[in-house]
Order: sequence, then structure tokens, then C-alpha cells
Amino acid sequence: MKTQVCIIGAGPAGLMLSHLLHLQGIDSIVLENRSRADIESTIRAGVLEQGTVDLLNETGLGDRMIAEGKEHEGIYLQFSGQRHRINMKELTNGKSIMLYPQHEVIRDLVAKRLENKGDILFNVSEVNLYDITSFTPKITFEYEGELQELSCDYIVGCDGFHGPSRKAIPDNECKEVQHVYPFGWLGILAETQPVSPELVYAYHEKGFALLSTRTSNVQRHYIQVDPNDKIENWSDDRIWSELHERVRTNDGWTLNEGPIIQKNIVSMRSFVCETMRYGNLFLAGDSAHIVPPAGAKGLNLAVADVQVLAKGLAELYQNGNEELLNCYPEICLRRVWKAQRFSNWMTNMLHRNQNYSQFEHGIQLAELDNVTSSQHHSASLAENYVGLPLSFDTNNHKLVYQ
Ligand code: APR
Ligand code: PHB
Repeated sequence: MKTQVCIIGAGPAGLMLSHLLHLQGIDSIVLENRSRADIESTIRAGVLEQGTVDLLNETGLGDRMIAEGKEHEGIYLQFSGQRHRINMKELTNGKSIMLYPQHEVIRDLVAKRLENKGDILFNVSEVNLYDITSFTPKITFEYEGELQELSCDYIVGCDGFHGPSRKAIPDNECKEVQHVYPFGWLGILAETQPVSPELVYAYHEKGFALLSTRTSNVQRHYIQVDPNDKIENWSDDRIWSELHERVRTNDGWTLNEGPIIQKNIVSMRSFVCETMRYGNLFLAGDSAHIVPPAGAKGLNLAVADVQVLAKGLAELYQNGNEELLNCYPEICLRRVWKAQRFSNWMTNMLHRNQNYSQFEHGIQLAELDNVTSSQHHSASLAENYVGLPLSFDTNNHKLVYQ
């Protein structure tokens, strides 16, 4: 088997990359170790930045998102029993976010790739990378009981944090940075109507809580728990009681309950692999970076990476110009580090840290007060939340990030 670009992983990064390459006339094959049904039903995040929404619309993927997603023009920050609205649309000259679940984006991407006769091989196993510093890198894998070999010009690792791509880079050549937070999120899906017209991020002495949404009948809420806590310790009644306490406002607002149809606990970390290119292997999305979820940046960073990569590969294949492709790590890492900064700031501002002194708790409340009462600080939050721009500088024939 042979192709121009071999993509490992059919998450948002891998599927979007194969779609963007197809639009530029570049062949790719996507190798995915799970089934189509599995990737199309795994519950993940659901906030799309303005740039992600624009890209989906511009590349023919926006129909269902526009019909079924919900545009949100603001978010609420809550502390000391009061809710404060950040009017993102007003603060960013008209930008907003879209609530549209990641697995729906995946469904749209898979459908479009198959409609365009794209190659996605599901249920592959034993994916191994070879000769990644040569001009003909290779991948071997098992598919339908047979060992296959695929050679290509480039391999793109879109296989998430645990995939084999990053591990194919020799340890002494791979620069990684990590920060682990002492917080976990217990997430639930509940069958009930939306509880708030916009997302509520709440700081409370008992810990952070987030009210989010999936559809008109299914809501997604989170509470901060110890990252080592076990889901068995959390009965539905205990979850509702904590949620009520943490999001109740002084004017008597409370939450609608409904049957909990799914619950889980995730720990959180910030991780950056600065070696986003090694030879002819590129890393994109979660394989290169992980952000804590409070900034809602994971999916959006993955999409931004592959936008840059697809442009770089198109410049190379169409015009023989490798300059943009060579700048891929530099362009992406700048955006990744700004997203890390924002996600880290949101995380630390909104969570209850048991190790903080009374002084540090006081400073944390002052930070929340400051961001909700100063237009400059609200604008900075809004600008980062709707997504920092990625634009093409036609004078320098380079993607620039402002
Ligand atoms: N072989 C083939 N595929 C693999 C392998 C492997 N050995 N290991 C992992 N994969 C696949 C996974 O099954 C998954 O479908 O790679 C895909 C990686 O997708 P994501 O984890 O969704 O990563 P990415 O596309 O970078 O998107 C990042 O997704 O997980 C969320 O919060 C994250 O929103 C962020 C976004
Ligand atoms: C979600 O809906 O799952 C969600 C929303 C906002 C976040 C994180 C997760 O910051």
C-alpha cells in the first residue's frame, strides 16, 4: 500500500486533516484502532471556537452543526452566590462559540470522507512506525487479520496522548513538558432540559462546578472532585446535592434534575511535546499537547494544528515550497502555549485548591472579581475563549498567528 500522507488516528485532528488534504488534491489514508461506531459515540467536549466553526462551514461540514448546534454569545462566571455574564460577542467584535458535541463533528467528518471516497481503515491494530527520518517512512499494522505495510511521504500522528506516534521519536530527541493538577472532574450526562441559556463556570468553597449542555434533552455537568476518587463513591443523589450547593445563587436559582445516564471521573494535566516534527513524522492534536478542560480548548487546538499542516503540505505538493511546512512546529507551539496559559489560568482561578492559604483564597476571589468587573480583563477572557486567530499572511506566504 502507498499514499502521500499516512494519518494515524481518526479523531478530530486526523479526520479533519484528511478532509483538508483531500480538498487540496492530496491523498491520505487514516488508520484507526477503534470501530466507526465507537468513535462516533464516545462522549467528549462540545465547545467549538469561532475559527473551528468557520472552518467547518467553509469546507462543507457545517450543515448539521448549524441546524443542531447552539450558538452561545457569552458565558457566566459564578462566585459568592452571584452570577456574572461575560458578553463575549460584544467584547470580541462579534465572535461567539458553538455548542456542538465532538462526536457529532466526528460523525460529520466520517460521512464526508466516505462520501468523497476517502480511505479510513477502522479496527486496525499493532500500528508501528519505521524509517521516520527517511524520505519513505513506513507503517506496518494488522487489518482484517493480515499484516499490512503502508509507505508514504509523511506520517502524521493524530493518535492522541497514548498513541504510538510520539513514542516513535527517540527519547533523547523528544522535548516534553508536563504539569499535573491536584483536581479531577466528575462529569455527568443527565436527561433534562437545558438549565441555563449559557455555560456556567462556578467557583465554590466546596469546589468548582460547570453547567454545560449537549442537546435540548441532554445536559453535561461537572463537579470538581479529588482526581483519585472513585465513581462508585458518588451516588446520583450525592452528585445532585453537590451540584445544587455549588451552583445555587443568592437569589434562589436552582437546578433541574433528571436521570443521570452516564458518569465518570477524569484527572487533568497540561502537556506539551515541543517536538511536533521529527524527520517526516508530524504530531497534531492530543498526541502533541493536552490542556485541562476549563478553557474548552482541546478539540480547537487539534483543528488549528491540522489547518496549518494542511496548508504547509499543500504549499509543498503544489508549489514545491517547503517553507510553511518547516514552520509548522513554531506556528502551532505559539498558539498551543497561549492556550496552555489560558487553560491554566481558568483552572487555577476556578478550582478550590486545598493547599492554598487563606491569603491565596482571598487573591483567587479578587481575581474573579477583577475579571468580571473590569472590561479589559473580561475582554481578554472573551478573546481567548472564542479562540485566538490564525490567519494567512499573503505578503510573506506564511501562516502567521497574531
Ligand atoms: N492506532 C490507531 N489509532 C489510534 C491508536 C493506535 N495505536 N491509538 C489511538 N488511536 C486513535 C484513537 O482511537 C482516537 O480515535 O487516535 C484517535 C485520537 O483522537 P483524539 O483522542 O480525539 O485526539 P485528537 O484528534 O487529537 O483530538 C483532540 O479530542 O480527546 C479529545 O479532548 C480532546 O478535544 C480534544 C480532541
Ligand atoms: C463540555 O460541554 O463538555 C465542556 C464545556 C466547557 C468546558 C469543558 C467541557 O470548559
